[in-house]
Amino acid sequence: MTPYRNPALPVEERLEDLLNRMTLDEKCDQLLQTTIGPDVNPNNLGDGGEFRPSIGSILSYFGGAHKRNEFQRRAVEGTRLGIPIIWGMDVIHGWRTGFPVPLAQACTWNPETVEACCRVAAKECSAEGIDWTFAPMVDIPNDPRWGRVMESFGEDPYASGLFARASVRGYQTADPSAPDAVAACLKHFAGYAASEGGRDYSYSDISARKLHEIYLPSFHAGVDEGALTLMSSFNDVTGTPAVVNRYLMTEILRDRWGFSGFVVSDWDSFRQLKAQGFSGDPEKVAIRCLSAGNDMEMVSECFKLLPELVRSGRLAEAVVDEAVRRVLRVKFKLGLFEHPYTEEQPVEATALLPEYRRLARKAAQQCAVLLKNENSLLPLDPASIRTVALVGPVAEDAAALVGNWRGNVDPATVPTLADVIGEFFPQSRIITVPGCGFETAAEGEIASAVEAARGADVILAALGEEWNRSGENCSRADIALPAVQRNLLHGLAATGKPVVLLVSAGRPILYPELEPCANAILHLWQGGHEAARACFDLLTGECNPSGRLAMTFPRSMGQIPIYYNEHRRARPDQGYYHDLEESPMYPFGYGLSYTSFTYSDLSIKEDLTASVKVTNAGERRGTETVFLYLSDPEAELTQPARRLIAFRQLELAPGESRVVRFELDKMRDLAYTGPAGERIFEEGEFVLSTAGLTISFECR
Ligand code: NOJ
Repeated sequence: MTPYRNPALPVEERLEDLLNRMTLDEKCDQLLQTTIGPDVNPNNLGDGGEFRPSIGSILSYFGGAHKRNEFQRRAVEGTRLGIPIIWGMDVIHGWRTGFPVPLAQACTWNPETVEACCRVAAKECSAEGIDWTFAPMVDIPNDPRWGRVMESFGEDPYASGLFARASVRGYQTADPSAPDAVAACLKHFAGYAASEGGRDYSYSDISARKLHEIYLPSFHAGVDEGALTLMSSFNDVTGTPAVVNRYLMTEILRDRWGFSGFVVSDWDSFRQLKAQGFSGDPEKVAIRCLSAGNDMEMVSECFKLLPELVRSGRLAEAVVDEAVRRVLRVKFKLGLFEHPYTEEQPVEATALLPEYRRLARKAAQQCAVLLKNENSLLPLDPASIRTVALVGPVAEDAAALVGNWRGNVDPATVPTLADVIGEFFPQSRIITVPGCGFETAAEGEIASAVEAARGADVILAALGEEWNRSGENCSRADIALPAVQRNLLHGLAATGKPVVLLVSAGRPILYPELEPCANAILHLWQGGHEAARACFDLLTGECNPSGRLAMTFPRSMGQIPIYYNEHRRARPDQGYYHDLEESPMYPFGYGLSYTSFTYSDLSIKEDLTASVKVTNAGERRGTETVFLYLSDPEAELTQPARRLIAFRQLELAPGESRVVRFELDKMRDLAYTGPAGERIFEEGEFVLSTAGLTISFECR
């Protein structure tokens, strides 16, 4: 058997054998990605047409297994070497079964849930011919004006790294060559979330310290977990666009972290270098992007020039070879040479299976965050409620519950709040009325909805963002809910009836105006396929809320950027806005439960084992996330006031106590990151804190 076709040989041997057989053109083709399907970009193949079967990758818009096989056959059987194409797609929070958006998944503080959601997404999308998802996004945002916060795991670098690991495990499994595993892609490398003012695609000025302290750790964690690919980013890293940043993609990623997979560029990012003011010369761009460390070009045209650049002596063939090696290595590791085709099965056989929907419901239950519960209004007792009013634009809108980047999720298969409310309030009279649209209201619409709700015992106000208000290119100057929705809520509050505010959104929103209008508030996020049932599970106490915010909610637009791990300031008691309360509206880690937890006995031993006792002091079983923070009061380089170093989740019965132990490590947890990415340990005093308890200790 030809060595590269022999699965018994080591990957490195197979790929060297294959590389040695390839012509320059065949090699360069491996570095190209094109699209098929209903997109209008110039390199889209549409339904087939002129197609170079030796192409490296296809970004597939909903082609399905049949289409994949048709194209793949042309690559595998119609080319000299039969190298399979790798099929990539954005599978961000589910493929057919919609799971909560990643920011919501982070609010579960449950890496097993995140892993399980990614596992199902991988099963569903691989069954339809996708080998590679452009996820997880592990950018670290601190500005909710940026529409892409929904794709992130929130503002904490450590937590984001753990969720990155969980996603990689879920997508790739321990054996990425399994037919139901897909390659993960950590994106966007790096610093995209730092785009100024939360304006997408804008300039970002990132100090060396911040790059290493904040933006790189989540990528490092994902690489360490074995992620097979990364995507380079649109933004600048202090003057050098990330897409031509050799320091990032070669010195750090390859030389330091030992990454052996490949880097794909983001959509059109090579040609955008012209707008960024780097260069509009496609030849220069191709050389610089390849040499910096991009191995595959998404969509645009510059890498098509590579063969000529090598022939004319402007680019060393060895640079091309190295990129081809990386692409082929991933193809071998994914087992594409062994199973290039996808079994063609009816979608019903592989998607939306009952256990997937059960997982979606569990994830949606775990991610919703209870922000207010005045006088324990919740949980509601359906038996004692004669009439319930469900009012607001989200009430009958399935797409809002799913959110953006929804893959192949069909909103028609997603139950709305209105669809399922009867399951939970079987004996109650239910009044459902939108009251307004997401942005506008018809004449008299709000007033008549308020009138209709007046007769109810409890009002559920289902407000939020329309599905496409968060996501890529969805920056907003104002994250308040639109005026019509606020007016509707004021009207409902004026009825004097108990109001439960339910908010479906892909980002933090402004709550100060809404908060006094509601007796209870549940931030649902965009919870996916079973968000509606999960919402009622929580409202009726079938399930006790356990979601905690992974991103700070500001009080006003002027408070942005706002995030919990801010570095210390020169005058701790001064310098705040004189016209605004200093604290955020809802801090990082915030979230209520129907029970209450008390903490005691925080301690740390010489061997750096920290422990704290947690007690369920209420009357219901509940899940608590214990967050452990570290402060370093004095250091050569200034430190955040506190940073998360560990978290643990536990479920406690009423009255039950448990001691939670954390084994800390000096270099991992007490040291900090310097401007070159080095870990620096300074002996002296440290402070641990959790839930209002603090303890100071010395470490040398
Ligand atoms: C552009 C986005 O920035 C990126 O996240 C996405 O994966 C690609 N488009 C492909 O859709």
